[in-house]
Amino acid sequence: MNFELTEEHLAVQEAARDFAQTELLPGVIERDEHQKFPAEQVKKMGELGFLGMMVDPQYNGGGMDTVSYVLAMEEISKVDASASVVMSVNNSLVCWGLEKYGTEEQKQKYLTRLASGEILGAFCLSEPEAGSDATMQRTTAEDKGDYYLLNGTKNWITNGSTASVYLVMAQTHPELRHKGINALIVERTMPGFEVGAKENKLGIRGSDTHSLLFTDVKVPKENRIGEDGFGFRFAMSVLNGGRIGIASQALGIASGAYELALNYARQRKSFGVEIAKHQAIQFKLADMATNIDAARLLCLQAASDKDAGRDYAKSGAMAKLFASRVAMETTIEAVQIHGGYGFVKEYHVERLMRDAKITQIYEGTSEIQKIVISRELLK
Ligand code: CAA
Repeated sequence: MNFELTEEHLAVQEAARDFAQTELLPGVIERDEHQKFPAEQVKKMGELGFLGMMVDPQYNGGGMDTVSYVLAMEEISKVDASASVVMSVNNSLVCWGLEKYGTEEQKQKYLTRLASGEILGAFCLSEPEAGSDATMQRTTAEDKGDYYLLNGTKNWITNGSTASVYLVMAQTHPELRHKGINALIVERTMPGFEVGAKENKLGIRGSDTHSLLFTDVKVPKENRIGEDGFGFRFAMSVLNGGRIGIASQALGIASGAYELALNYARQRKSFGVEIAKHQAIQFKLADMATNIDAARLLCLQAASDKDAGRDYAKSGAMAKLFASRVAMETTIEAVQIHGGYGFVKEYHVERLMRDAKITQIYEGTSEIQKIVISRELLK
């Protein structure tokens, strides 16, 4: 078993770390406070190849492996989890889904522009009454011969107002339940498409999360992904990989908070010594570091499974389940180590604590991860 990263991996990690420190750190507090989308920074992420990392170069991607993606996600999430969710959705859900299951025409038309970062994509599964129970799609895609007539509402959509291309799950054959769902590529400019309200969120406030409304949107048949009724399996397959991205986001939030807490503990004095000299603080740091290393190993294991062509539904869900818990616990402890300073914005850890919570909710709650894991265990 080889735990060494290759030179290429280390180079990607360093590039992501540099980008996070020089481009994302300045202004991250203000973007969080004012819910400002990091537009310029996301554009640069595209130019640097962070938005289509794993896509084949023939479609303008970086041709990198999933391990590289995990490393980059960790570094970017240490600083700005709002930027990293944009990156994660575009890479894991939209680009990967199109590359794996799209037609050559769909790849040429959409993937080439998504992978280069020229445009952003969104993944639209959740609905007001279909979150964890994703089979209960109320959005309909009526078969009209050479097009689908799309009607309904989607909720909690990351990149909701900034995307140009939306992968939308909708029910065509309700009698077939989840086997009647289709996945359609919807363009922002299609008549009848409307961006709804923006969510005012606890965390990842720089990312834009919206509801979307579809009213008699005519989606050409050639925009369906896969065969008729493939939409639910498409969504599940895409989410298996998406969970590796969110697991590494959670890992980054945790390791970012840990690094801040470690530095603070070395500088801050109380009772005549640096607080790092107190065992109460040392025990916290030891727990944080141990949990983060374990979370990183799970993330890298899931990434290696995907890269090696092994099944990664279980390892991806395990990585997300564990890393998101570690993110929550670590950020709470990082605030505690900072004391009163941890409770104010300038020290970053309160934002990381708020950002951590979503990693236990989106792309399947922790409870859903346990369902996915146990399904695999009991197969
Ligand atoms: N991988 C592949 N296929 C899967 C799967 C998985 N992890 N989980 C389920 N399936 C398949 C099953 O094999 C089954 O297929 P067949 O009918 O062909 O046999 C089908 O899906 C239905 O499975 P179940 O009967 O087990 O369905 P269920 O309703 O009991 O459970 C679920 C399914 C796992 C709970 C699923 O609904 C689920 O994952 N829910 C969570 C949805 C989710 O993660 N939403 C996140 C929204 S996207 C987002 O957050 C993005 C963002 O903006 C950041």
